Amino acid sequence: SPTSPETKPLDGLHVLITAGPTQEPLDPVRFLTNHSTGKMGYGFAHEAAALGATVTLISGPVSLPEPGEPTIETVHVTTAQQMFEAVQQAYESADIIVMTAAVGDFRVSEVAGEKIKKAGRSSIQIELVSNPDILAWVGAHKRTDGSQVLCGFAMETQHLIENAAKKLASKHCDMLVANNLRDAGAGFGTDTNVVTVLTPAPADASDSQAPIQPRVEKWQKMGKTELAHQLLLRL
Ligand code: CTP
Ligand code: CA
Repeated sequence: SPTSPETKPLDGLHVLITAGPTQEPLDPVRFLTNHSTGKMGYGFAHEAAALGATVTLISGPVSLPEPGEPTIETVHVTTAQQMFEAVQQAYESADIIVMTAAVGDFRVSEVAGEKIKKAGRSSIQIELVSNPDILAWVGAHKRTDGSQVLCGFAMETQHLIENAAKKLASKHCDMLVANNLRDAGAGFGTDTNVVTVLTPAPADASDSQAPIQPRVEKWQKMGKTELAHQLLLRL
């Protein structure tokens, strides 16, 4: 008889990933953005597909090659608002949601219709307004029966555990992967990452008034692809 195909751990699952930066326009030629390259999110997409999942990759503008796997659908967006709308379209059927994108927290309140000219100005003030928090929105709208797991990322420059613990709780994540931009081999554009993985404390640690401490694990430096693999097996 023919050998049965090897079952993969994520067979039959739908994984939704956000990746890369967003770009927030100021005028027809300029925008606000950040240093994200998308490597972590694209690493997740390739690994999730290799583990058998169907993947929706919602990507801000990056220079990485478009994933070629037939089970990865890549949706290209530019602004945080567009990323938010694409996530709202896709999240309901997702079993695992991983938000690696470096989403612009603010956008220009009124985008200039024409190029802003420098003549006659010695300074300029640009008003910014806040963007929707996509991860917090998904945290508030995900299924409550535990059948949808949500993983956020946090890049910090100080107070890593404290800041990450707040994000884990306030955005209702099942896992929060924190990295310190200042660690060697972590951060933007690198092929490796050094992360601390936070998960909610077990539900029994409840009647105390003190804030509930999450579980915290510091992981060794590893390649972003290997890291995505290990994290997906834990979600
Ligand atoms: N995130 C998001 N939508 C936003 C901002 C952040 O989905 N508008 C997600 C990121 O993709 C990441 C997580 O939230 O998974 C944490 O992002 P981060 O920028 O570290 O946290 P913020 O809540 O934006 O707080 P701050 O930038 O002030 O540290
Ligand atoms: Ca932010």
